[in-house]
Amino acid sequence: MIIDNFNRVHDYLRISLTDNCNLRCFYCMPDEDYDFTPASRLMQVDEILHLARVFVAEGVKKIRLTGGEPLVRKDAARIITSLAALPVELTLTTNATRLHDFITVLEEAKIKSINISLDTLQRDKFMLVTRRDLFEQVMANIELLLDKDILVKINVVAMKDFNDQEINDFVEWTKDTPVDIRFIEFMPFSGNRWTSNQVISQEQILQTIGQRFDYSPLPGDVHDTAQSFSVPGHAGRFSIISTMTKPFCAGCNRMRLTADGKLKNCLFSAGETDLLQPLRRGEDVLPLIHQNIKGKAKELGGQFTNALEQIEALTIQNRSMITIGG
Ligand code: GTP
Ligand code: 5AD
Ligand code: SF4
Repeated sequence: MIIDNFNRVHDYLRISLTDNCNLRCFYCMPDEDYDFTPASRLMQVDEILHLARVFVAEGVKKIRLTGGEPLVRKDAARIITSLAALPVELTLTTNATRLHDFITVLEEAKIKSINISLDTLQRDKFMLVTRRDLFEQVMANIELLLDKDILVKINVVAMKDFNDQEINDFVEWTKDTPVDIRFIEFMPFSGNRWTSNQVISQEQILQTIGQRFDYSPLPGDVHDTAQSFSVPGHAGRFSIISTMTKPFCAGCNRMRLTADGKLKNCLFSAGETDLLQPLRRGEDVLPLIHQNIKGKAKELGGQFTNALEQIEALTIQNRSMITIGG
């Protein structure tokens, strides 16, 4: 088992397959001319599988593939198929633009649930945030997953003056569509031009929803990032991920492997442990994994609410979101 100094068991591994993406969301990308990591510096399929096996042998029960956009990697299908053979719940977070090319692979891999980033229900705004005209493709692919009985969670980064007027449109969507809409408090990362006054807090989101809908909290799991709510008569539900105003670090079970093979013990940790080079030198990576997780801080989420300077300092040391994978 992989346990930190606060007795948190770590059994959920997020593996970023690439920092490349076919969209250009401003809250995730550092800037327009960002240089993607060259393929030679990324973990190769056999290396991903090797590291995944080490983690699974140490008790990891869930692996989430992330990016950038995991499905832009040319060998994504091969990675999914090989990881699906491990005794682990395999899933992914994607922008959904390429899901139609992968549907057979995902079905064969027995993937039951997929998280999709979608911040607006308006085509012109989608173009504004992603700088690409793929809104209709994303919506068609969400339908495709629902037709195949794959559970869909929609990640909506809530941002003032961008999608604050759409919160109830998203909730309305859940009336007839069995999706889980997850509003995420906007978080600061290196280069994403975050400011505290763009954050829409959990409290504000609930207040907005309460003006139009009845809702009640649903029971959750201690490891959940999201607190979920039901609306009477709705096929779907909504949830809130409140990193900034109500952190959930006490139940954290997550580890992150970046596409270039570095282990991060927290979304906001600046320190990383390289696993890829030791693996390429034929060394045992297991002690490195335990050492990294033992160094995990008790709580980094949420510390940002009052001190803008502190955040700026932290985000400069941290990676940009596109190189972490969420
Ligand atoms: P589930 O496994 O379905 O609960 O998904 P998830 O919430 O773990 O992952 P997803 O990739 O969908 O991420 C949704 C949002 O939650 C993103 O904004 C992530 O950055 C954020 N998130 C995921 N894991 C953590 C975490 O450990 N800590 C914090 N603070 N945020 C996280
Ligand atoms: N703040 C909050 N969530 C973010 N995501 C990306 N950047 C940010 C940010 N700055 C979310 C996206 C994606 C998930 C992996 O992370 O919604 O679905
Ligand atoms: Fe875990 Fe860090 Fe997220 Fe807290 S902020 S839940 S410790 S990854």
